[in-house]
Amino acid sequence: MEFYCSIYLSAVLFVALLTCSRGAQQPSFDQNYQIIWGYDHVARFDGGSRIQLSIDRSSGSGFRSKLEYFTGFFGMRLKLPPKSAGVATTYYFISNAPRGVLHEELDFEFLGDKILQTNIFINGVGKREQRIRFWFDPTADFHTYKILRNPHIIVYFVDDIPIRVFKNSTKYGLPYPSQPMHIEATMWNAEGWAGGPVNWSNGPFKAQYEGFGIHGCGSGYGPLGCAAPVLPWNRKGLHQLSEEQQRAYQQVKKKYVFYDYCYDKKRRPEFPIECKLN
Ligand SMILES: *[C@@H]1O[C@H](CO)[C@@H](O)[C@H](O)[C@H]1NC(C)=O
Ligand SMILES: *[C@@H]1O[C@H](CO)[C@@H](O)[C@H](O)[C@H]1NC(C)=O
Repeated sequence: MEFYCSIYLSAVLFVALLTCSRGAQQPSFDQNYQIIWGYDHVARFDGGSRIQLSIDRSSGSGFRSKLEYFTGFFGMRLKLPPKSAGVATTYYFISNAPRGVLHEELDFEFLGDKILQTNIFINGVGKREQRIRFWFDPTADFHTYKILRNPHIIVYFVDDIPIRVFKNSTKYGLPYPSQPMHIEATMWNAEGWAGGPVNWSNGPFKAQYEGFGIHGCGSGYGPLGCAAPVLPWNRKGLHQLSEEQQRAYQQVKKKYVFYDYCYDKKRRPEFPIECKLN
């Protein structure tokens, strides 16, 4: 049983009223998302509770959320295609500002089936890649990939284990994402970048997505409305990692992170101050 909540936020009073129902029907794909490309490479199962993206030589595919969000605790379950080196399967958050100029992004990028890359773009500047190995086979089962975003912290989770933390250090003059973002999921040919050449005899490559409920604050409520402490993802316990999460995060950094922009002198000649604070 899971909880599905809808949040009604009065933009005037910033009062959130939370209604949760136990075991309510999971929102279908069409309620919150729409296909954006490769229509004939997208399949639906179980009345839209599972979506399959695919890629072959002719096309990849993708979908996006209908709305944009400032804050939230977002997540989706994914099952990756096996033997998919060279193919990028993604689940990410992106703002509408012109790409590469001022846009912002929070990314999960699965490079083939062996590497999980995360990245963060703020005001058009990325170059914040981190790469981890999996401690499970991501092609065998569904796993949950989540992003917590509130005014204090951004945390990336894999199955509730924090794998990346980015703190709001604007008080030290450092950047922090501030734009509303929509959610996108895509599969595309990233040959040469995503872990080697694509071996098309293993294709077509298919990724499955589940979990189309969105626990987030829509951009219509504005940055202040979405910062309201009463929203569940803004509450005090979620302003930093718990001690237990901190320990799990240290283990991930020690055992599974194998690339970190913080220590890439070619890409970042000067040690980024944000790396010390995060
Ligand atoms: C970051 O924190 C500062 C306070 O230190 C706050 O004023 C600002 O709104 C926060 N940024 C975002 C995007 O929430
Ligand atoms: C491509 O995959 C096929 C089937 O799995 C395999 O037999 C072949 O050796 C692979 N080719 C390369 C270049 O790895």
